[in-house]
Amino acid sequence: MTLLRRVGLCAAAALLSAGAACGAPAQKTSFSLQFGASWYPEQWPEQRWDRDLDLMQAAHVNVVRIGEFAWSSLEPTEGHYDFSWLDRAISRAAAHHIKVVIGTPTAAPPAWLTQKYPDVLRRNEDGSTEEHGNRLQYSFASPRYRALARDIAGRLAVRYGHNPNVIGWQIDNEISPVSFDAAAQAQFHAWLQARHKTIAALNAQWTTTYWSQTYTSFDQVPMHLTNENPGLLLDLKRFVSDTWTSYVRNQADVIRPKIGKSQFVTTNSMHWNARYDHFEMHRLLDIAAWDNYIPEGRYDWAENALLHNAVRGYKQKNFWVIESQAGYVNYGKINRTLDPGVMREMAWQAVGRGADALLYWQWRSALNGQEQYYGTLAGPDGEPVPAYTEAKRIGSEFAKASATLANTSPRTEVALIQSYESRWALEFQPHHKGFVPTDEFSAFYRPLLHTVHNIDIVSPDGDLDRYKLVIAPALNLLTKAQADHLAAYVRRGGHLILGPRSGMKDENNALWTSRQPGPLAGLLGGHVEQFYALDAPVTVEGLKHNGTADIWAEHLVADAPDVHTLLRYGAGSGWLAGQPAALTRSSGNGTITYLGAWLGNAAMREFLATAVSGAAIRPVLQVPDDVEVSTRQGANKLVLILINHGDDERTIALPRRMQDVLRGGTTGRTLNLAPHDAAVLFTTGKIAP
Ligand code: GAL
Repeated sequence: MTLLRRVGLCAAAALLSAGAACGAPAQKTSFSLQFGASWYPEQWPEQRWDRDLDLMQAAHVNVVRIGEFAWSSLEPTEGHYDFSWLDRAISRAAAHHIKVVIGTPTAAPPAWLTQKYPDVLRRNEDGSTEEHGNRLQYSFASPRYRALARDIAGRLAVRYGHNPNVIGWQIDNEISPVSFDAAAQAQFHAWLQARHKTIAALNAQWTTTYWSQTYTSFDQVPMHLTNENPGLLLDLKRFVSDTWTSYVRNQADVIRPKIGKSQFVTTNSMHWNARYDHFEMHRLLDIAAWDNYIPEGRYDWAENALLHNAVRGYKQKNFWVIESQAGYVNYGKINRTLDPGVMREMAWQAVGRGADALLYWQWRSALNGQEQYYGTLAGPDGEPVPAYTEAKRIGSEFAKASATLANTSPRTEVALIQSYESRWALEFQPHHKGFVPTDEFSAFYRPLLHTVHNIDIVSPDGDLDRYKLVIAPALNLLTKAQADHLAAYVRRGGHLILGPRSGMKDENNALWTSRQPGPLAGLLGGHVEQFYALDAPVTVEGLKHNGTADIWAEHLVADAPDVHTLLRYGAGSGWLAGQPAALTRSSGNGTITYLGAWLGNAAMREFLATAVSGAAIRPVLQVPDDVEVSTRQGANKLVLILINHGDDERTIALPRRMQDVLRGGTTGRTLNLAPHDAAVLFTTGKIAP
């Protein structure tokens, strides 16, 4: 039995119909779904803390994040530390059955530090230097800042590493800006030398004879984020990514030896942020955690589902939403409040997509400071605001569902490949202002979401054997090793789809000398003859209804006799008229398909639905498009989370009767979901359908 087939038997549909046992063996766990908020006790008189914690406890809060901006309260002057308030805050929280995640305070260095050591300040690309008063004003490359960060992080770890009320560590906060200071430049040059070994090799790989860019030593290479040789741009992105990773490792390495095994180490990431390669960063972290904001206040649930799937993909395991929007933000053009009930839809979506924790930002706003206008659960008087009432309901539902969700996680047979290097390469040279890599990724994700519901998002080097269908929406930068990895997946029986612009560049962001998809053109038995940026849609034929392509279209050519043309461009599409738009070929037990066009929604949906059924994938449920289905599986256990994001009641046909965790009792074979309502259902293999 191949690995692919074994995985197929473990799919949710199989569990529902056959009650087959699959997945990891049941483990004894003290799992509970975590629910909470960011709490800043240092901003409030201590006599206030118990009232805050009482209100939290009443809302079923069981975790708070503390400390991530509190350096000046922890070390008021150099070498003089005051952890006593934090000791008391942790023990007061514990008295309310609330655990703590400690944020290392390095995102906000104190004034004494930057005054005494101005060399730690970040230098921007325009030559200006950051000053005290905002946050993240340090240089990510500064050896002195790293030493100071190690000191404070290490002291916190010594003090709280075995405190039973501390469950984890967040390193810094939303890292991302690049510094162009002298230390960063020197490190970039050393990094280039380590990668290319000789300046001659760098010159060859970047084709620096172009515009006389030839370098005679590494220290001549400038640090520019735009308007540069694509080879340099890509290496600078890699350097930045590696530098942020080593910045986080610097603290992780000092924390880890000092803490107990039950405490985790993470950092909080931001949606669609590509300032570093999140797959690489998360190798050194225990879990992924992210900050889920909807700045304009209009919840696009499918897009938000994608972001959760992306975060889950960093480690292919359950994650935390360590900040979530308490109503509204303060940095949009119009900071609209989420509609009533949306916090609950978002909460259940997060859990359905694999979150084991959800914390709001923030409990109560500081009376002064840059974020006075930010959404909270408690007002400036410390009493609940409307968002608290929503949070309280969510907290009570999480408490009810917690045991059911223990040892469960989403599983799927479909993966999308996200490559940071490809995304960077396309962002440097979009060639069409509409070719936004995240939008193109989403154009594949959304129709798949409605068809298969659960989707993993993996790196191009990730383990693919558990998937029947793997799709790379735009794998622009494709190394030989990655091509071999994908080809092996196909030969073992996988179904691979490459989207437009795939296989154009090598690892130096140089053009492959073979036509797209470069090192996979042989396996495909076809190639891209020419690409076209479109300023108007073209028609595409070969589907039940003729579709369209927009923004990008490639003229494909079949080179081998056993290649099938799936789609062609219609008449009247200029150079493209009548030419192949999608090719497919069998190889070993699998198939490779190349789609050269950015299809419109309807066409993409049909194209992908055909691919899903061609890969013998049976979705667990069929639902209207405004209903979100997610599944979490454990040993012999399936949890279905259904959310009606629409304004009409929906009746959903269930494959069997299931236990209704939130409402109690057992469902019938159908379930009525009111507008914007959610249901958590579960079954085990032993329950008769
Ligand atoms: C996050 C950040 C928080 C807070 C919040 C509101 O990005 O991590 O500290 O600033 O946004 O803007």
